[in-house]
Amino acid sequence: MEISEIKKRLSAEIVGEKLFVYDEVGSTNDVLRELLGDDLAADGTVVVSDSQTVGRGRLGRKWVSPRGVNLYLSALFRPEIPPQKSSVFTFLASCALVEVFSVYGVDAEIKWPNDILVGGKKVSGVLTELGTSGGAVDYLVIGIGVNLNLSEEFIRREMEDISEKTTSLSILLGEEVNRERFCAEVINALDRLYGEFRRRGTQVIVDMWIERWGFIGKEISVDVSGEIVSGVVERVDANGFLYLRTDESDLRKVVTGDTVF
Ligand code: BTN
Repeated sequence: MEISEIKKRLSAEIVGEKLFVYDEVGSTNDVLRELLGDDLAADGTVVVSDSQTVGRGRLGRKWVSPRGVNLYLSALFRPEIPPQKSSVFTFLASCALVEVFSVYGVDAEIKWPNDILVGGKKVSGVLTELGTSGGAVDYLVIGIGVNLNLSEEFIRREMEDISEKTTSLSILLGEEVNRERFCAEVINALDRLYGEFRRRGTQVIVDMWIERWGFIGKEISVDVSGEIVSGVVERVDANGFLYLRTDESDLRKVVTGDTVF
């Protein structure tokens, strides 16, 4: 990706003020952490790469990262929040992505905790990793992968087990997506929402996410380390934890897991 083609579209104040663009890396999340260790990364620093050799998803999964077709982006945030609130930044990224998809006329849905789907198929995922110091968040690395120009043929060939559940923006739009433009839109949206967080705190992000997610009062099933927990979502608390009413006498708090459809 051409860094100048991204930069000319940026209106962001903090996110992307420092921007590093690579041809190939292991994982953009790791590169960002290394830059931080070398004192080269400040709050809002963004790393983007054309390809990743060991792109990863949540729960040790692989993130398929072919060259020159998708967006692989990591953003560094250094908010003063307790570690249990780090999911709020996954929410922030999800809301930013939904906003960007809407710019392209695409109505994206959020699947708790970190997937973005269109028509039931995954188009993007968020991987939040954190470092702590003295019981508080030292840094958060928010890794965002978006399938932009993956072809149906590639998905069928290379993503066998998840091919039925995967799509890309170009498939949805029927035309190639300009990656630099999409990247700049994501950075600008992250910056807008980070500004909201700085002015008004974490709750505003949680509330925005709850509204976009739209599952309060609805029944969902969540895979919690292999156990399927089904219930009606009663609420989402200030940390982003779910409370599922599994029966009249049981309200289950769910901290991590995967929504099952
Ligand atoms: C998931 O859905 O499980 C999360 C996927 C996150 C993928 C992105 S691509 C950029 C960043 N670097 C990585 O290695 N992973 C994230």
